[in-house]
Amino acid sequence: EKANIAIVGATGAVGVTIREILEERKFPVDNLYLLASERSAGERLMFNGKSVMVRDLADFDFSQVDVALFSAGGSISREYAPKAVEAGCVVVDNTSEYRYDDDIPLVVTEVNPERIADYKNRGIIANPNCSTMQLMVALKPIQDAVGIEHINVCTYQAVSGSGQKAVEELAKQTAELLNAREATAKVYDKQIAFNVLPNIDALQDNGYTKEEMKMVWETQKIFEDDSIAVSPTAVRVPVFFGHSEAVHLKTRAPLASIQAKELLEKAEGVTVVDDMSQLDYATPVTHASGKDDVFVSRIRQDVGIENGLAMWIVSDNVRKGAALNTVQIAEILVKNHL
Ligand code: A2P
Repeated sequence: EKANIAIVGATGAVGVTIREILEERKFPVDNLYLLASERSAGERLMFNGKSVMVRDLADFDFSQVDVALFSAGGSISREYAPKAVEAGCVVVDNTSEYRYDDDIPLVVTEVNPERIADYKNRGIIANPNCSTMQLMVALKPIQDAVGIEHINVCTYQAVSGSGQKAVEELAKQTAELLNAREATAKVYDKQIAFNVLPNIDALQDNGYTKEEMKMVWETQKIFEDDSIAVSPTAVRVPVFFGHSEAVHLKTRAPLASIQAKELLEKAEGVTVVDDMSQLDYATPVTHASGKDDVFVSRIRQDVGIENGLAMWIVSDNVRKGAALNTVQIAEILVKNHL
């Protein structure tokens, strides 16, 4: 069974990777439609050895499409996802627009694939935020085994999470500074090269940023457990691809770090890289960038609390964090539901 697929935001950081992953995984695509703004309409991009023209989203007819993968920002999803559903499409949405609606499933394919069936509610399935995604993949086996009471997470997030323009800004500022020129900041409010910014997405009334609150809301929704407490700090760092997270957990029952490691070694979508005596630990550049798995290192007993575990979680934010999970959801949809 082949499906007609549309990528909305096909010229962006995530859209480009979705196209590569569809090809890599030999997704059963009948026709592929590449959609972007009128600025890109008429450009040609390669798919499975053929050149495909980018079309203007504004006048596209979704009735020829089975599954539409949206990655063009929240306002675009707000306007066009309902139109696509109206035309008979199922939408997998990468933005935060629908994630917190009770009747919209929020799916990590290794964690709650059964929720994909709820696409029937409104024709839309939401893809989680990249920081939540890798956290869920790594913590699922621990939640299943002993339950998690509290997650304390600090992130070290790559600029690709802010889109292609941010990737260019980091490169440009780095070159400017190495040439003793002044760095110009446009995408971020401050210089990102050789710096770290504890400010991702909009400030909320409680003093947290929206990126931080996404980890709270999405963790509880995906694990279907509102009693899990999450204490997040989200930080942008001058890394191109791959988010890292320093995670400290309090579990509901004791779990030895050696057992946690064994559980993680068996977990789907996880690679454990953890032998510090051999300097064996994952980083965005050496392990995660361009890879599908979530990498977990430095699994240890927390020295500060009872029933505490600590670990380091790294993943490619554009792949598993966005494009790959979107494609994996679409695979299950096409195979089991459409
Ligand atoms: P375009 O390249 O034509 O601007 P990124 O996340 O890397 O910034 O990419 C954003 C994606 O969303 C791009 O593919 C971009 O297309 C697309 N996009 C942005 N605004 C619109 C719009 N008004 N209509 C359709 N696509 C849009």
